[in-house]
Amino acid sequence: MLPDLIAPSILSADFARLGEEVDNVLAAGADIVHFDVMDNHYVPNLTIGPMVCEALRKHGVTAPIDAHLMVKPVDDLIRMFIDAGATYITFHPEASEHIDRSLQLIKDGGCQAGLVFNPATPLHYLDHVMDRIDMILLMSVNPGFGGQKFIPGTLDKLREARQRIDASGKAIRLEIDGGVKVDNIREIAAAGADTFVAGSAIFNTEDYRTTIDAMREQINL
Ligand code: DX5
Ligand code: ZN
Repeated sequence: MLPDLIAPSILSADFARLGEEVDNVLAAGADIVHFDVMDNHYVPNLTIGPMVCEALRKHGVTAPIDAHLMVKPVDDLIRMFIDAGATYITFHPEASEHIDRSLQLIKDGGCQAGLVFNPATPLHYLDHVMDRIDMILLMSVNPGFGGQKFIPGTLDKLREARQRIDASGKAIRLEIDGGVKVDNIREIAAAGADTFVAGSAIFNTEDYRTTIDAMREQINL
């Protein structure tokens, strides 16, 4: 297994102080920055785009940036996020006309590529792309908003995705996104996740380090 990564979702950060919030959460022990991009078309909300990613790089953020594209179409924004300094770029297969081409665009841009699965999206989209991806992201809520409740059925899906990764023999990350908290992260890790997105669970607490440490402790139990 790859080392576990804690990925705070900046969706729940204070956008008026975003650079400072990202600095603080990284100083508190976060490993990567989860960056939620919503277009009010593929999902019913509107957030931030490549200019903000570039601004974080200019601000001095050197940690990996994990751009989760909840947009349709995807290819133009993939190009923009490559230029903006993203590290991982993931997209929803239903939102791409040509999944293989979108993955190739990401790889050609020198970024790590991944597919995102909504709670009801089947994993068979992985069938012909396991050799092309670096990450599988399973949504454990319906995309669009932070602060929702973890959908328990995602645990079985995590186990299925973990089997696919292990069978592939490739170092593919398995990321989980939605409703991840200190009190459920242990069973999520046991089901096979190695990359943990948490928005409200981290940014809505007073002391980010205490929360991140508590999450790591649960994962390592
Ligand atoms: C939802 C986003 C998530 C969200 C997670 O569409 O993809 O990254 O911010 O937020 P929490 O951890 O609050 O469920
Ligand atoms: Zn996300």
